[in-house]
Amino acid sequence: MNMIDIDHMFGKITLSIIKPDAVKKGHIVPILSEIIHAGFNIIAIKMTELSIKSAQIFYAEHQKKLFFESLIKFMSSGPIVSVILEKKNAVKDFRVLIGNTNPVYAKKGTIRYLYATSLEENAIHGSDSDQNAFKECLFYFSHREIFFKKDL
Ligand code: CMP
Repeated sequence: MNMIDIDHMFGKITLSIIKPDAVKKGHIVPILSEIIHAGFNIIAIKMTELSIKSAQIFYAEHQKKLFFESLIKFMSSGPIVSVILEKKNAVKDFRVLIGNTNPVYAKKGTIRYLYATSLEENAIHGSDSDQNAFKECLFYFSHREIFFKKDL
């Protein structure tokens, strides 16, 4: 049973998605291992598939961008794994762990360096702010699906 309300975790959580390219290539377990090894706690996890409509809602901030249509098609092209991660400085530390959005510029050893193939098929998502993390976590999970382990 969930003992702490998600509001209490603002600033200590981030939302990650293992994207369809990485799922298709069998990279779920290696990527989750990297994440756990880096000190993140998994407090919610599910394999799911975005419909076109739900992908459009999730990526609404990009709707005016030239790559929007392609992004929606890609993100709804197969199963994804969405995960809520808990850690101090979760958003910032996770973005360091995954590396640059474009794998060409991702530092050696980062998850995108290891598993991404292009700017679009970049294997993994990480929230870009605490506000967005909070919003994104509640997009994928209900309060009953989130399990806090540590008092950070
Ligand atoms: P992410 O930051 O997880 O979420 C938005 C995604 O849009 C981003 O990863 C990239 O995969 C994708 N993206 C960002 N910029 C571009 C671009 N210029 N061309 C194609 N895809 C992009």
